[in-house]
Amino acid sequence: MYLGLDLGTSGLRALLVEASGRVVGSAEADYLVSHPHPGWSEQRPEDWVTAAERCVESLRQAFPAEWPALRGIGLSGQMHGAVLVDAAGDVLRPAILWNDTRPHVEAAALDATDPVRALSGNIVFPGFTAPKLLWLEQHEPEVFARIHKVLLPKDYLRLWLTGGYVGDMSDAAGTSWLDVGVRDWSDTLLQAGHMRRDQMPDLVEGSEASGDLRSSLQADWGLDHSVVVAGGGGDNAVAACGVGCLSEGQGFVSLGTSGVLLAARDRFAPMPETAVHSFCHAVPGRWYQMGVSLAATDCLNWLSGRLGQSPGELANVLPDEITGPAGVTFLPYLSGERTPHNDSAIRGAFVGLDIASDNAQLTQAVMEGVAFAMRDSLEALKATGADLKQVLAIGGGNRSRFWVETLATVLDLPMHLPKAGEFGAALGAARLAMAADGQGAVDLLMTPPEVAEVIPPRSDLRDQYEARYQTYRALYPAIKGAVA
Ligand code: XUL
Repeated sequence: MYLGLDLGTSGLRALLVEASGRVVGSAEADYLVSHPHPGWSEQRPEDWVTAAERCVESLRQAFPAEWPALRGIGLSGQMHGAVLVDAAGDVLRPAILWNDTRPHVEAAALDATDPVRALSGNIVFPGFTAPKLLWLEQHEPEVFARIHKVLLPKDYLRLWLTGGYVGDMSDAAGTSWLDVGVRDWSDTLLQAGHMRRDQMPDLVEGSEASGDLRSSLQADWGLDHSVVVAGGGGDNAVAACGVGCLSEGQGFVSLGTSGVLLAARDRFAPMPETAVHSFCHAVPGRWYQMGVSLAATDCLNWLSGRLGQSPGELANVLPDEITGPAGVTFLPYLSGERTPHNDSAIRGAFVGLDIASDNAQLTQAVMEGVAFAMRDSLEALKATGADLKQVLAIGGGNRSRFWVETLATVLDLPMHLPKAGEFGAALGAARLAMAADGQGAVDLLMTPPEVAEVIPPRSDLRDQYEARYQTYRALYPAIKGAVA
């Protein structure tokens, strides 16, 4: 029996899985994000531990026959957050999260420092970890001086589970302190970020063992044998393990709060200038690249709030099949944009509104705008050499066939819709635990989900959507001056 723990931004999800891959059950517990100032985003690491305790308790109660067979735990987590602990392992201040943009000045300065981009393989985004520490050095020097270790969120959960300071390469790749090609901390990058190697956790691969469950927890949880804790990884890498996306040519598009287009890579092929993220995968010898759009279903949720209809009601007004682009173009930059513009100041727009524009047209325009943003990411990924042949469509947005067919046509790629079931980061985490426990090779453990339907691009409409995508592309520079 294996436990996958996915430490998300709004809550923790725990999944109990048999070695055969059969999902036994799940539990969830939420926690809060606080925004003490505009652009700040923080969480109490202690709340993550409380959430994990609640999830474990509820799984123990619900599955008393299966729980005692627990052999391994895998971790997945929101990336980039800075958890600061002193020499006793106590947290020094609330964790500063991935969506906190306070260190944008420090991020820009670090990004412009040679050879930061070359070694880290990425732009230093304000959300990444290194600029957060430069900000702390300036603004909270008394905290900065007491930092014993800097941990990523899931690695704080591991400290509680095992007592060890250990991280993994896939999550560490989002710090701007890792030499992503070499898969090790870089002394040059650490120096540029005013940090030391001894302040970093040891690194293991996501599918390797990172330690054993502490004996006191083992006893509290009613277990009479040791339980291995796998390295685990950053949420997108682990989600890729959950859908069997490990090798060149494999990818997924996720229409969640944000939009992600991810391609697994057999080699490290960074191209920071495209604003594509190039990170280590959670399995050895593999990397992945992804384009990120900061608002995907978030755009539909925003429209639903304004129009007073649920996102499902809005989507249901549209037919199952597309018939050509809406007359209105939507730019989905409600929270700024990462790929390809790396512009946290840009904001969204509807362009071409008509007196006859109705809710259905606005909904269609929003779905198309998100699809065009994903196309921007596809073009950026292609520039790095990634060659996707088909992609799995995951995330809540895949419930709209209209949206998925729009995406297939705009990306000119067949969309594979998985059968309903479990295939997210919590499953990927459980699979990493199986690998760490020696249950088999990663390629055999991390299989793709069963596909319910393949939605091909509509070749009859390709030219119309291509023309509208070109309009969309021309709008970013046109509105930039008006918005920022
Ligand atoms: C990745 C990223 C998010 C966070 C939170 O670069 O910022 O995926 O990990 O989910």
